[in-house]
Amino acid sequence: MTQDEMKKAAACKALEFVKEDTIVGVGTGSTVNHFIDALATIKHKIVGAVSSSEESTKRLKAYGIEVFDLNSVDEIDVYIDGADEITEHMQMIKGGGAALTREKIVAAVAKTFICICDETKQVPILGKFPLPVEVIPMARSYVARELVKLGGDPEYRQGVVTDNGNVILDVHNLEIIDPKGLENTINSIVGVVTNGLFANRGANLLILGTAQGAKIVK
Ligand code: A5P
Repeated sequence: MTQDEMKKAAACKALEFVKEDTIVGVGTGSTVNHFIDALATIKHKIVGAVSSSEESTKRLKAYGIEVFDLNSVDEIDVYIDGADEITEHMQMIKGGGAALTREKIVAAVAKTFICICDETKQVPILGKFPLPVEVIPMARSYVARELVKLGGDPEYRQGVVTDNGNVILDVHNLEIIDPKGLENTINSIVGVVTNGLFANRGANLLILGTAQGAKIVK
């Protein structure tokens, strides 16, 4: 199986966790694109979706799936999203697609976070994938200096503006031994909107695309 086929296997398996007559939380990325394609086949059974990015919103709407403003929704049963890295403790790095802030907001509202990814995303320790940090543009240099003090090597993601009008710093060479602590520390730097560590609110369930098919990891 190719990596993309493993992503698709995980995404299709996630349909089993979508309850009828609910609003589904939808993440962002190539794995989620497969999930949206699958969701379209049962669109008559759901009320609609809350989306974590303009990209996913566009794809959902193209299938005729109604996309709700999060402020008009009381509860989300499941949030389904990919990851750039995930550990056995269900802690993740996300934001490779620059959608981390909206992803974290929708994930916070959802009762259950289901991570869908291929097996290459499983890691023993987070940090090989550079940690994305969404930053208010005028604070970029200040935040970069603070991230250096934490031992990281921040790199400005040139040409990328997030859906919220901000910029991304990708932090290389961080040794993430305490993901919850580092998530909180980085979020407390003035000018940071949020960072791509999903440690305090990790996934509740992982659907892993493997060469043998989709595997559920709790
Ligand atoms: C988007 O900002 C990210 O958090 C994605 O969820 C993550 O990068 C996974 O992307 P793929 O499904 O494309 O690998």
